[in-house]
Amino acid sequence: MEVLILPTAEEVAELASSVIVEAVSSNPRAAIGVATGSTPLATYKKLIAAHRQGEVQLDGIRPFMLDEYLDLSPDHPELYRNVLKRNLLDGVDVVSAELRCPDVFATDLLDACRRYEQLIVEQGGIDVQLLGIGSDGHVGFNEPGSSLGSRTRIKTLHTDTIRDNARFFDSLDEVPRHVITQGLGTIMDARHLLLIAHGATKADAIAAAVEGPLSASCPGSVLQLHPHATVIVDEGAGAALAQQEYYRHAWANKPEWQGL
Ligand code: PGA
Repeated sequence: MEVLILPTAEEVAELASSVIVEAVSSNPRAAIGVATGSTPLATYKKLIAAHRQGEVQLDGIRPFMLDEYLDLSPDHPELYRNVLKRNLLDGVDVVSAELRCPDVFATDLLDACRRYEQLIVEQGGIDVQLLGIGSDGHVGFNEPGSSLGSRTRIKTLHTDTIRDNARFFDSLDEVPRHVITQGLGTIMDARHLLLIAHGATKADAIAAAVEGPLSASCPGSVLQLHPHATVIVDEGAGAALAQQEYYRHAWANKPEWQGL
């Protein structure tokens, strides 16, 4: 695992976007796992700018959703596929039909979860999976207690997550209680995991995920087992890391040939 602590959230977004730009530059049809929440928005803005300025052509990417709410109407602005359309896909000229997502409107939701798993495999897996982290340590919507080997399935949101996400809705009661999320095992199958976080509210979750024990109590800790995981945080989100000094030293001395 490589841990990078950067001065600002802006620099986190810049570096995260450069990882995706590089993946797409070498494979225009790269499968990119796209996350939602506030954290990735600045990264998406950078990607849109790179696309518009002709630095990279992002219109051929194959985007895969990380998770999606259940029980919202198809036109609800907070349905994650609509959020992604507004904040990323439209800006990089990818039509909504290209977004690979679990069918949250299926009558058989268990089958929809299985089909999503199958789709990821059939399409050759995910090249770069962008991840945020919840204040309770969740990645995707894998709440504490999630099996470290879990696959795409229905989850009930933690009360902390419902509270955290209420800012996107008119009231706490409107936040869906259930979601479909890639499992931790599904996420671990991606070839490169890119976890980003900023702000002091994420400091404890980042410390637990990066340096805490490997435990279902902090689902993000599963990244410790991944052969290619990059964690990019700002000073606030990195503040509780015990090995900060070493991470800074390693970054300052990173050989140019190595890349991320
Ligand atoms: P946030 O959520 O980016 O809105 O803080 C992250 C997450 O819950 O994974």
